[in-house]
Amino acid sequence: MKLRHNPASPFVRKVMVCAHELGLAGRIELLNTAVSPVEANATLADENPLMKIPALVTDDGEVLFDSPVICEYLDSLAGGKLFPASGKARWTALRQQALGDGILDALILCRYEIAARPEEKRFDGWTEGQMKKAHQGLAALEQEDLSGRTIGTVTAGCTLGYLDFRFPNDGWRTRHPKLAEWYKGVEALPSMQATKPPAG
Ligand code: BEZ
Repeated sequence: MKLRHNPASPFVRKVMVCAHELGLAGRIELLNTAVSPVEANATLADENPLMKIPALVTDDGEVLFDSPVICEYLDSLAGGKLFPASGKARWTALRQQALGDGILDALILCRYEIAARPEEKRFDGWTEGQMKKAHQGLAALEQEDLSGRTIGTVTAGCTLGYLDFRFPNDGWRTRHPKLAEWYKGVEALPSMQATKPPAG
């Protein structure tokens, strides 16, 4: 399998944490891919018409995107460990995944605004508005039952990891001590250690 990859992307990290948890990381060839909010990377278009990462090419040549689809595909190869098959457990895990992904969407919009948009072109209230969504999402995440290991908890871990990576002064641990305590154990997992974003 081949994965369009960038070590700074939290959605790529989600896929790779799943791969490590499922014992599949060694079967994935990583194709490092530059991405930018303004310059579409045309080389990606064969795998993903949206020109976004992650995109996976399976051993059968099928192309899969985005991260929820790739993660569920990997899980199916490993016999269904991270995606509960049915019932309340499944909906809870999928809701937690959607919550983490939504927080990440808001954080990445903030990141692009701060790091990529020239200061004179920024518009008032954008970053604050997105950050408010991220913070409300985190407050909801704190109320979730994050025991066990599912796609929901993998996504929550990668979400908090991205906050630490790109927003180190956010102060989420002070606002959410329960999440902070939970993350201590998650951060130390071999799958999280193996997929840490680069420094800087
Ligand atoms: C980042 O550098 O924060 C980033 C890179 C790729 C995708 C999303 C975010």
